[in-house]
Amino acid sequence: MERKLIIAIDGPASSGKSSSAKILASRLHYVYIDTGAMYRACALCSLKRNIDLNDLSALTFMLADIRIDIRYAPDGNRLILNGEDVSERIREEDISRLSSQIATIGVVREKMVDLQRKLGEQGGVIMDGRDIGTVVFPHADIKFFLVADMKTRAKRRWIELEAKGLDPDLAEVEQEMIWRDKNDSNRAIAPLRRAHDAIEIDTGDLSLDDQVELLHEHIRSLQQ
Ligand code: CDP
Repeated sequence: MERKLIIAIDGPASSGKSSSAKILASRLHYVYIDTGAMYRACALCSLKRNIDLNDLSALTFMLADIRIDIRYAPDGNRLILNGEDVSERIREEDISRLSSQIATIGVVREKMVDLQRKLGEQGGVIMDGRDIGTVVFPHADIKFFLVADMKTRAKRRWIELEAKGLDPDLAEVEQEMIWRDKNDSNRAIAPLRRAHDAIEIDTGDLSLDDQVELLHEHIRSLQQ
């Protein structure tokens, strides 16, 4: 029987992580875990409870009983926060920014990393995020680091927002992304960084099919 791998995909926003991970997970019959969604859920929880992110004791209290469940589904996983399906709400732009802020905080990361390790340790998993190959699973079987130039990534996010019926401004989307890249790359704990043994793939000029095929080839070569 084929060994169940741990596959790590890291990279900045809209570099193609989640679109590749979803398709690969369904091809390989693996579970897809979007760790960004977990930080987004923490951010939403803090917002709902009106918690000041500087108030470490309030945050610690919130984390003690936070329940983040992933309901796996072929047409897209659902994220359940304390019993409520928040899958759509966590994708809104206020939560993008707040998740990047809350993700700088040590107690938050400790709790999320712990959860992520429990979810992935059995293998048969594709996990995407910013620190999967560096911190969560430094011994992952295979690591990818996806990149793309800023204009391409901003355009992708803009298209996504438009498809949701919003009226996004491309320059604003780009500014938000520049801010978030900087915040994610410069934080003290688990900054966005390519693991030394990660395969870097520039998705800027690749179609989704080509991108997925390229990752799949690397995975296949490992399984032979
Ligand atoms: O989907 P998008 O690429 O815009 O972001 P995401 O993957 O949903 O992640 C949202 C935020 O969570 C990021 O900007 C990071 O600050 C944080 N994050 C993190 O710190 N570590 C991870 N493993 C995943 C996300």
